[in-house]
Amino acid sequence: MKGIILAGGHGTRLNPLTLAVSKQLLPVYNKPMIYYPLSTLMLSGIKDILIISTERDLPAFKNLLGDGSDLGCNFSYIVQKEANGLAQAFVLGEDFIGDDKVALILGDNIFYSNRLPKLLRANKEFEGGLIFAYQVSDPTSYGVVEFDKNNNVVSIEEKPEKPKSNFAIPGLYYFDNNVCKYAKSVAKSKRGEYEITSLINKYLQINKLTVCVLDAGTAWLDTGTFDTLSRAGQFVEVIEKRQGVKIGCVEEIAYKMDYINKNQFEKISKKYQSSGYGKYLLDVLVNNERV
Ligand code: G1P
Repeated sequence: MKGIILAGGHGTRLNPLTLAVSKQLLPVYNKPMIYYPLSTLMLSGIKDILIISTERDLPAFKNLLGDGSDLGCNFSYIVQKEANGLAQAFVLGEDFIGDDKVALILGDNIFYSNRLPKLLRANKEFEGGLIFAYQVSDPTSYGVVEFDKNNNVVSIEEKPEKPKSNFAIPGLYYFDNNVCKYAKSVAKSKRGEYEITSLINKYLQINKLTVCVLDAGTAWLDTGTFDTLSRAGQFVEVIEKRQGVKIGCVEEIAYKMDYINKNQFEKISKKYQSSGYGKYLLDVLVNNERV
């Protein structure tokens, strides 16, 4: 399976933080934001990853992540000239996706759960489209899924003023290879975007949509405003300090999932040894616990 990280947009809700820097490169405690969605894809066993961003920001992502070989991955890059909506990722990424299935994750979505890696790996055998639902107090700024009494999906709506449920759709989507074809036929919404929810609706109409409800033990964090960005950083800091284990640590994940060997891991760990991050990696090397 291939993976796409969509890290475009202008992040205007975070101005002036984002006047010169991509939102998805801002720090969430001790790592650039994109490390978190990247770690989610890596934990689901995906190594071939396309990073989509703006013309201005793509070079910075390349500087940060390179060709992926340090992490045992293959990273490709493509520019999204205008922020036209999420569904466009599958049009831009068509050649990259080739004949494979694909997972799309938004570059500002942070997931955390001990059970998530197992869930993501188990879900690889889906047919059609697979999305998630997560209960939130205010779903109005998200895609929203409505269920009937038997937990069948009834409707999918984008940012409804009057949501029909409290189940928001997080920015992690798995699709079969038809997604490129379907993405091309998506029409622009009223707000002028190729919405991901239009694509999801296509899979719902043809009865090929699975919605997996993420339980309350999973954290899905928002980073769209000053407050939520700051709270996401605090969340990561609290858990990491309490447990002594890092969240979204892509180097550790690459090592523990056997994407890279001990020598490669040691090399990256030494690169960062003047920060606490590098010291943590060196500790992992010594303790050598595999997940
Ligand atoms: C996008 C999607 C929305 C989804 C959300 C998750 O919204 O359009 O369906 O629930 O991501 O983060 P946006 O971030 O573009 O406001």
